[in-house]
Amino acid sequence: MIPFRRSGLLAVTLPGLLLLAACGSNQPAEQSTTTAPAADSTQTKVAAMPTSASFGKALDGTEIQFYTLTNKQGAKATITNYGGTLVGLMMPDRGGKMGDVVLGFDNVSDYQSPAFRKANPYIGALIGRYGNRIAKGKFTIDGKSYQVGVNNGPNSLHGGKVGYDQKIWEATPGTSPDGQTLTLKYLSKDGEEGYPGSLQITVVYTLTDANALRIDYTATTDKATPVNLTNHAYFNLSHGVSKDILKHEVTLPADRYTVVDAGLIPTGELRPVKGTPFDFTTPHAIGERIAQVPGGYDHNWVLNAETGQHPAATVYDPTSGRTLEVTTDQPGIQFYTGNFLDGSLKGKGGTVYGLHAGFCLETQHFPDSPNEPKFPSTILKPGETYHTTSTYTFGVRK
Ligand code: GLA
Repeated sequence: MIPFRRSGLLAVTLPGLLLLAACGSNQPAEQSTTTAPAADSTQTKVAAMPTSASFGKALDGTEIQFYTLTNKQGAKATITNYGGTLVGLMMPDRGGKMGDVVLGFDNVSDYQSPAFRKANPYIGALIGRYGNRIAKGKFTIDGKSYQVGVNNGPNSLHGGKVGYDQKIWEATPGTSPDGQTLTLKYLSKDGEEGYPGSLQITVVYTLTDANALRIDYTATTDKATPVNLTNHAYFNLSHGVSKDILKHEVTLPADRYTVVDAGLIPTGELRPVKGTPFDFTTPHAIGERIAQVPGGYDHNWVLNAETGQHPAATVYDPTSGRTLEVTTDQPGIQFYTGNFLDGSLKGKGGTVYGLHAGFCLETQHFPDSPNEPKFPSTILKPGETYHTTSTYTFGVRK
């Protein structure tokens, strides 16, 4: 690993992922590309195990690692045990050139900086115990009321004041028949952020040879508790070429979405998307109707399919030719267009993350489900196992 200097600070590069040309370069890492080897003849020789290296020291002094998973096509996924965060994802464009398709930062200090904490964008992180919002941070289970951490106006967002995005996970690199893996474990103790029950969580990232990043989430509890785990990656399939994602074409197989109030809490209404800017049942560029949605898209779509692994989103980027297919077993997906990114954060290699620099597709149960008896239940009970899988598959259209 070659450390490099940027703005007088020692930063750490991610070998094979952040391909900075030279010491002191201000060139955004995402603009660097390498040519992927031809998939048929000279497939990338994949090391037996993911590689790992230092990601710097966390504020509490813990040495943080990042792990690079590689597949036979030469695609790479880089994940740190800080927040279980997806830091980088190299995928080929229509010409076979690898480019980084997610937003992220060079080292752990960037994820803990005052600017990052202030903006609180959850870039790439694992989210829990409850993804998205719980109204006023209050809910009742079996007649007992709970108050969890409030961190978003009057509401609780993404687990409260210190969510799983800020936890140091126990990481174990490995392999499976499907590809290289990173297994992350975290024990969220009874009472953490006010949630009942000790929740033992295991998340496995798998990078398959079909250029898919699969995320498997498993959890068990010793008291009934709401659970809604997800990943908060921001994608930009033409990273390094386009500073925003407005030209990406999105399809969401969802005839309804959950209507929200001014604080982004669902009113309980599942409203048909037909005839509205929320209708992505056929492909639409993100920018086409975004001006009609105050603030931009930040809503939960109710996926049409309810059982098994089902399609959740398709994205096509005409600039790079890259496509992204999301499948999940979850009932909803939060499509968020980076509305709160304001240019205050500089990502990998110094790239400024401005408005709509990336979009998120957070597979999930509906926001505020613990307070909406008509929504599918999010309560996990002792003796049950929470298990959910979401897969992000990349391809190209010529
Ligand atoms: C989710 C929320 C948004 C925002 C982002 C993080 O997508 O729905 O309102 O909080 O996370 O910035």
